[in-house]
Amino acid sequence: MSLVDDWEDLNRVLISPSLLSADPARVIDGVRLAEEAGADLLHIDVMDGHFVPNLSFGPELVRKLREETQLNLEIHLMVDNPADIIPLFADAGADIIAFHREASPHCHRLLEEIRHLGARSGIAYNPGQSLEDLRLVCDVVDEVVIMGVNPGSSGARFIPGTFERVQRVAQIIEDRNVRICVDGGVDLDNAALLRDCGANLLVSGSCFFSAADAPAAIRTLRGS
Ligand code: DX5
Ligand code: ZN
Repeated sequence: MSLVDDWEDLNRVLISPSLLSADPARVIDGVRLAEEAGADLLHIDVMDGHFVPNLSFGPELVRKLREETQLNLEIHLMVDNPADIIPLFADAGADIIAFHREASPHCHRLLEEIRHLGARSGIAYNPGQSLEDLRLVCDVVDEVVIMGVNPGSSGARFIPGTFERVQRVAQIIEDRNVRICVDGGVDLDNAALLRDCGANLLVSGSCFFSAADAPAAIRTLRGS
């Protein structure tokens, strides 16, 4: 897909399978499944063992996947000190890099830096994080990631307050060209309501990778 064309068309809902739910010994099989099923992006979770207890993927995987796939690579940094590693992921070929609001007091500067490094900029909010300062960075952000779960693993329980938070983000960003992403707990039952609330990029981990019919799962998540 052309990220430029599809990203800008906010009426098109993008689906981003999360490789955290793929078989860790066969990540490339997960990539091929996402490609063949019609996914738009690949969601790559980066955890440092501090911001969240878990550990996961690093920039060398991203560099390798950049060679292996045409899918856009969406990096979700669940790390303390994101400024230290953002350049590594940009250099590895990331298309979108999102870090957590909770992890940086310098989020405006970091969002600008991500764009300067040639990627699209994203900011993620945990379920317990206020959204009200989002308006201060609206003009330097390309993607707002609303966590539907407390981060750190696949298959966690979806938090229903997420619907209202997506609506609030839609109010704050108004008509700006910013994607609203929901990550965590997205499934075939809640996707339609999330889209109705304003989400136009849905991450899917356990739902996608456990689906008996992966292309059908993508279609249902996308709503078309
Ligand atoms: C959660 C991660 C998610 C996770 C989603 O901390 O950021 O990307 O892989 O998995 P599901 O869809 O199973 O909640
Ligand atoms: Zn994620």
